[in-house]
Amino acid sequence: MKLHFSAKLLSGPVPVYLLALVVLILLTHVVHYMGHVGVGVPPTAKRLEEPAVSVMKHCDIFRGEWVPDTAAPAYSHKTCGMIQEHQNCLKYGRPDLGFLKWRWRPSGCELPRFDPAQFLRFARHRSLAFVGDSLARNHMQSLLCLLAQVASPRDMSPDPSDQQNKVYHYRAYNFTVAMFWSPFLVRAREPAGHDGHYSLYLDEPDERWVSQVPRFDYVLLSAANWFSRPSLFYEKRRLVGCSFCSRQYGVPDLTLHYSHRKAWRVALRAINALDNVTGRVIVRTLSPMSHFDNGTWDQGGDCRRTEPLRSNQTSMMDGRGPDHRFYAAQMEEYRAAEKAARAKGTMRLMLMDATAAMLMRPDGHPSRYGHRPNDKVQLYNDCVHWCLPGPIDIWNDMLFQMILV
Ligand SMILES: *[C@@H]1O[C@H](CO)[C@@H](O)[C@H](O)[C@H]1NC(C)=O
Ligand SMILES: *[C@@H]1O[C@H](CO)[C@@H](O)[C@H](O)[C@H]1NC(C)=O
Ligand SMILES: *[C@@H]1O[C@H](CO)[C@@H](O)[C@H](O)[C@H]1NC(C)=O
Ligand SMILES: *[C@@H]1O[C@H](CO)[C@@H](O)[C@H](O)[C@H]1NC(C)=O
Repeated sequence: MKLHFSAKLLSGPVPVYLLALVVLILLTHVVHYMGHVGVGVPPTAKRLEEPAVSVMKHCDIFRGEWVPDTAAPAYSHKTCGMIQEHQNCLKYGRPDLGFLKWRWRPSGCELPRFDPAQFLRFARHRSLAFVGDSLARNHMQSLLCLLAQVASPRDMSPDPSDQQNKVYHYRAYNFTVAMFWSPFLVRAREPAGHDGHYSLYLDEPDERWVSQVPRFDYVLLSAANWFSRPSLFYEKRRLVGCSFCSRQYGVPDLTLHYSHRKAWRVALRAINALDNVTGRVIVRTLSPMSHFDNGTWDQGGDCRRTEPLRSNQTSMMDGRGPDHRFYAAQMEEYRAAEKAARAKGTMRLMLMDATAAMLMRPDGHPSRYGHRPNDKVQLYNDCVHWCLPGPIDIWNDMLFQMILV
C-alpha cells in the first residue's frame, strides 16, 4: 500500500517537489534520531559556551529551605520511561501534585537548575557510578530522567535482566552511567531462610564495586537502610556479634549502629588504599528513614503530608531525631577518611550532605502510590524511596555543582 503510494508519487511531475519534501522530513527525523541516540561523538560545542562555574566556591548548598517553584518539575512520568514502577507516583494516581512545585534554595545562593545539555557536554568522555541500594538506584533514575530531556542512553548492562547492576551509555556524548548493587558496602550473604539473618563480613569491603572504582571519573556511594535488617557480624571470618538477635547465637547484640559505622569505615579505607584512583568519590549522607507517621513501616505507618517542612520543623540537625545517629556516624567516618586521603594527597573525597534537605520532605515519598490503586497486592506504605519526579531531583542539581568544582 505504501509502495503503491510512493510509486504513484514518482510517476507525475508534481511528485518531484513532494519527494523533496519527503526526503526533508526523513532527514529531519534522522537528524533528530542522531541527536538522541547518537551516531559517533559530535564535535565539541561550536558555540562558545559560558564556562560553568560551581556555586560551591562561595556557597554551602546543603543548608537552606524549600521554596515554591512554578517551573518544577523538569520532567514527567510521560517523558521518562526509566522510573521504577514503585516510584512512579503520578502514573499510579497520586492525587496531590503540589509536592512537585518546590525547589531547594541554599541560604547563601541560588542552586542552578540541572541543565541536561550542559551536563552532557561536561560529562563527555566521562563515567559515573552509583554504588549502594535501591535509593542509589532511585538517584540514578532521577538523573536518567533529567537527561531524557535531551538524550536517551543505550542499556549496555552485562545482564539486561539484572535490575540491580546496570550500565547505560550515552553514545553521542560517550558518557557512561553505572549502578553497582551493594547495600551494605561490605561483603554480605543473604539469609538462608525467609526470616533468617544476613551475614555481614564487616572487615571485607565488597570487591565487586571497590575493584571498579579506578575505572570511573565519579563514584557516588550511599548506604544506610539495609543495616536495619537482622544481621550476623563477622570479623576475621569469626562471628563477633549480631543485630536484632537473641542469645541463640552466643554473641552480643552490637546493634545496627555497629555494623553501619564499621561498613562505612571499611569501605572508605578500601577506597583510600587504592593507588590508581584518578576520579572523585562522593559520599551521599543518608536519606531519612524516619518519615513514617503514626506507626513504623510494619505497623501501618504512612507519610501523607502534601507540603515540605521548614528547616526549623525538623529535629535532626540539632542532634535529636532517629536519623541523627546514622548521620553522625557517616559524618565522622567521612571526616576521618578525608583526612587520611588528604595526608596521602592522591584523590578527592567529597561529601554530598543531602540529609538536612531531605528531612524536610516527608511529602515526597510514594506512600501507597507505588503501585496501581486496584492492584491486589499487600504492600507497605513506602516512606523511604522517593517519587519521580520528586524532591531527589535536587540530588542531581547538587551532583552537577559538585563535579564542576
Ligand atoms: C569514551 O570515553 C572513555 C573514557 O570514559 C575513553 O577511554 C574512550 O576512549 C572514549 N571513546 C571515544 C570513542 O572517544
Ligand atoms: C588498580 O590497582 C589495583 C591494585 O592496587 C589493580 O588490581 C587494578 O587492576 C588497578 N585498576 C586499574 C583500572 O588500573
Ligand atoms: C495519625 O492518625 C490520626 C488518628 O488516626 C489522624 O488523625 C492523623 O491525621 C494521622 N496523621 C498522619 C500524619 O497520618
Ligand atoms: C520557623 O521559621 C519560620 C520562618 O522563618 C517562622 O515563621 C516559624 O515561626 C518558625 N517556626 C518555629 C517552630 O520556630
